[in-house]
Amino acid sequence: MGQSSLATLPESSAPRRPPEAIVTVQVPFLDLRVQHEPLMAELLEAFRQVTDTSAFAGGPFVARFETEFAAFCQTRHALGVGSGTDALWLSLLALGVGPGDEVITVPNSFMATAEAISLCGARPVFVDIDEQTYTMDPGQVEAATTLRTQAIIPVHIFGQMADMDAILAIARRYGTPVVEDACQAHGAEYKGRKAGSLGVAGCFSFYPGKNLGAFGEAGAVTTDDPELRSKIQVLRDHGQAAKYLHSTIGWNARMDGIQAAVLSVKLRRLAAANAARRTNAQLYDQLLATEPRVIRPTIGSHNLHAFHIYAVRVQDRDGVLQRMAARGVNCAIHYPVPIHLQKAYAFLRLGPGSFRVAERCAQEFLSLPMYPELRPEQIKFVVETLKECLRN
Ligand SMILES: Cc1ncc(COP(=O)(O)O)c(C=O)c1O
Repeated sequence: MGQSSLATLPESSAPRRPPEAIVTVQVPFLDLRVQHEPLMAELLEAFRQVTDTSAFAGGPFVARFETEFAAFCQTRHALGVGSGTDALWLSLLALGVGPGDEVITVPNSFMATAEAISLCGARPVFVDIDEQTYTMDPGQVEAATTLRTQAIIPVHIFGQMADMDAILAIARRYGTPVVEDACQAHGAEYKGRKAGSLGVAGCFSFYPGKNLGAFGEAGAVTTDDPELRSKIQVLRDHGQAAKYLHSTIGWNARMDGIQAAVLSVKLRRLAAANAARRTNAQLYDQLLATEPRVIRPTIGSHNLHAFHIYAVRVQDRDGVLQRMAARGVNCAIHYPVPIHLQKAYAFLRLGPGSFRVAERCAQEFLSLPMYPELRPEQIKFVVETLKECLRN
């Protein structure tokens, strides 16, 4: 029920909250307002340029952002699309993934990773994650590979890249393309190479809360492959190879000009913002180092983490989350139910116990507030509150 409908209720029937239930938020999980405030002059100028030229769907601002984002990701091409989900789906379609095919991925991701596979008519085949890095366990990929396997999607979860050398080695052996789900990993690196530059395609989400966030929905595919680029270019625009000439059945998955203009402004700050996230993560690590009830994130030896999310593991996670919220610290859970246990995938008949690490982590993950503008005193308050809220 929205507020306006509440206002129309007679005085006596309007629900009243007891005053003790009103909690002042001391540290929000995410604060986009503090990120945008210093950029407002530049953002307003960017809006003005887009409105002056009426370049709202696709167009020069999207083309400019694509060039800038490709350079940032160390790839030859980047293609703006409507969302991260579009990026994954169109990449798989362009690779020819279809009904009867299988795509290997992990169950501890946002639903969209598996959804994109299903939207192609293919079947997601899950492998468990590594208990240290929470990314795809390469040791399980070979056993999951069949004659039907048409792609592998490692997910660079929380801002840390998967063990790409090991995954690419298996993929090469079987001739399987690797599509990186880099939706949480803008600017993350593996052996000095950027997320999105190691697979045949890299898929990014610019959902507002991401390390690089738009003012609405947007996404991108990065690739070095000119053929893949051309296919996705056609697919994202109703299958049009030329205006009103449709060579294939596509979709409307174009990026908005306004989103591209916003993203260009924010891309210039991304490296510095990621560095600030790493500094914040270091302070969390330092303050939590002597707390045995908390498992801190582990950074893989070849990785530069982008810390989209700073997730710790605790027992009685739901209780801790509630007690912290009652003290004004908002945390989150990424993600409470692994994909194979979602009702939507019940048809795969993968019950509890199928992927033990992913399932245990899903019960224990607690995402602490994380954004570049988080102040040291806020981090200290989060850690003090967390320690108070842990039960032995
Ligand atoms: C790992 C992962 N994959 C895919 C997506 C889908 O991106 P979008 O929400 O832009 O469609 C997200 C977004 O939350 C994500 O975190």
